[in-house]
Amino acid sequence: MDNYEITVTAASGIEGVVKKELKSLGFADPKAFDGSITVRGSSVDVARLNMFLRCADRVYITIGKFNASSFDELFDGVSALPLADIFPFNARIVVNGKCRKSRLFAVSSCQSVIKKAILGVLQKKYKRKVFPENGEIYRVEFVISNDVASIYLNTSGDGLHKRGWRDLVGDAPIKETLACALLALSDFSPDRPFCDPFCGSGTIIIEAARIALGIAPGRDRSFDFSKWDFFDSSAYSLAFQEAKDNELPFRKLPFSGFDINPDALSLARRHAARAGVADSIDFRVRDVRSFSSSEKSGCIVTNPPYGERLLSPRDVASLYSDFGSVWKKLDNWSLFVISSFPSFEKYFGKKADKTRKLFNSGIECHLFSYFRKPTD
Ligand SMILES: C[S@@+](CC[C@H](N)C(=O)[O-])C[C@H]1O[C@@H](n2cnc3c(N)ncnc32)[C@H](O)[C@@H]1O
Repeated sequence: MDNYEITVTAASGIEGVVKKELKSLGFADPKAFDGSITVRGSSVDVARLNMFLRCADRVYITIGKFNASSFDELFDGVSALPLADIFPFNARIVVNGKCRKSRLFAVSSCQSVIKKAILGVLQKKYKRKVFPENGEIYRVEFVISNDVASIYLNTSGDGLHKRGWRDLVGDAPIKETLACALLALSDFSPDRPFCDPFCGSGTIIIEAARIALGIAPGRDRSFDFSKWDFFDSSAYSLAFQEAKDNELPFRKLPFSGFDINPDALSLARRHAARAGVADSIDFRVRDVRSFSSSEKSGCIVTNPPYGERLLSPRDVASLYSDFGSVWKKLDNWSLFVISSFPSFEKYFGKKADKTRKLFNSGIECHLFSYFRKPTD
């Protein structure tokens, strides 16, 4: 069987962005529902999605869906799934999940029932009672919603925001997937001047440079599916080769990353080197209050302090006000700011052309968008 229902998950507020990414990867009819998007495809499609999706959280294969309003129904439903060909006798099976609006609501009990049912299927297939569980990891995830159980296999492993380039954590970093969603929602373009004046450990500017240089987000990491025997063994290498073929030759980009904190900038430089884009970006220690540009037109996408994890509300109010004065002096620079600060627009001094609710590490935020037409 090499035709799967593939379920892609995305953070709240960016499902639409991921749907567009799926379309641009050649999936004509992605269906979005309840925080996830489904498409149909082969093992190679699963590999390509893991390799190329920039804004999605994880890629799953749907193993099955059935009604389950009791533990017996859950056990029987899992036992009836086509599991025997998936797991080798030494599979390390980890079950996790969630229950909502359902008679089954005790997550840990559901986990045990599902694991027991899977092992029951394997006992019949391998004719043994005990399994070493010392082989490759298989992460099974379930969602029981309105008494319907959906069982998935996580093909990604770690979340797709883990690109492989971040090895140290700075102050309040934004996830790579959210950074790419902000870029997708902005008017960022690889050949236009681009700046993150609060770049911290460099996430937004590094992801922007990797987009500009055609570097696949999954190029520098591994995925669980590539170690599975039942999966087409050429899937990963085909996707990796496609990633290599898509890479553009090195070029210096008109991109700058600034931050007032020299330690943050050292981290950004280190990460940019690990991400393969160090020589493409101009990094400088700079207070946003001294930001200016000789470029007539450009794009800023940024994640300043919110007055929650960094700086006090009073300090961010004054910082936003100064940032607003600086931005107004720029000619034709569009601006996209994510912040949870309730009165951002008031202190910044201008109402956004558009606002959109997003979540950054569980904090409710808004993306404030100020569009300017790019000039030649
Ligand atoms: C929320 S963090 C940015 C995190 C970044 N997006 C990342 O992924 O690592 C905000 C950054 O703004 C910087 N900052 C604070 N005040 C600043 C100022 N006046 N000018 C420039 N940067 C400033 C902080 O040093 C911090 O690195």
